[in-house]
Amino acid sequence: MITIRDYQERDATRVGCLIAVTYSEFNLAFASLEQLAAFLGPFRHAESTDPSHRKAIARVIRSEMVFVAEDESTIVGVLRGRKDRLASLFVRRDYHRRGIGRQLVERFEEECRQRGSTVIRVASTVYAVLFYLAMGYKRSTSLRSGWSFEGRGLPVQPMRKALRTIDHPT
Ligand SMILES: CC(C)(COP(=O)(O)OP(=O)(O)OC[C@H]1O[C@@H](n2cnc3c(N)ncnc32)[C@H](O)[C@@H]1OP(=O)(O)O)[C@@H](O)C(=O)NCCC(=O)NCCS
Repeated sequence: MITIRDYQERDATRVGCLIAVTYSEFNLAFASLEQLAAFLGPFRHAESTDPSHRKAIARVIRSEMVFVAEDESTIVGVLRGRKDRLASLFVRRDYHRRGIGRQLVERFEEECRQRGSTVIRVASTVYAVLFYLAMGYKRSTSLRSGWSFEGRGLPVQPMRKALRTIDHPT
């Protein structure tokens, strides 16, 4: 059974590996080895046991909101963001199309609503555009050239979604 829960610092190494593998495979396949290292930033050391690498990974995962999807004790998805911006979302390849991305986004949107947000923005990867459209997001501009850590020239699709506001009792 899949559970969505708050991320904890002790999840950092497992989340780092999930991000490194999924990001490389689905979003960075066009990159040379040198570019790949630049786009991955600290996640290029996801397998390392060096404490300085682990610390750097834990630092970049930290965000106002971070949720993980867990199957028993295996972390299979992660979403990071703040109250008006979804920063990153990754689901492990062998768990795709089982509604995990949807559950993570719904949990995040609920939290954003509670915090008073009316709009969420995301710079979607090209791969994820159909997913976000299915989640009710709309393209807000044409495709743009984005960046990731020291890497430049990552194609991204800016998207946005207006949130339903919560009716507060008067
Ligand atoms: C994008 C991603 C997070 C989606 O996660 P997921 O758990 O597979 O998504 P869901 O199963 O919740 O999909 C919900 C709906 O989105 C749509 N969708 C999801 N993936 C899709 C795909 N590859 N192609 C077309 N539609 C897709 C479908 O309508 C799907 O509903 P359905 O399966 O009932 O048809 C996942 O594919 C991923 O990690 N991709 C690589 C990393 C990435 O690009 N992340 C985005 C960073 S901004």
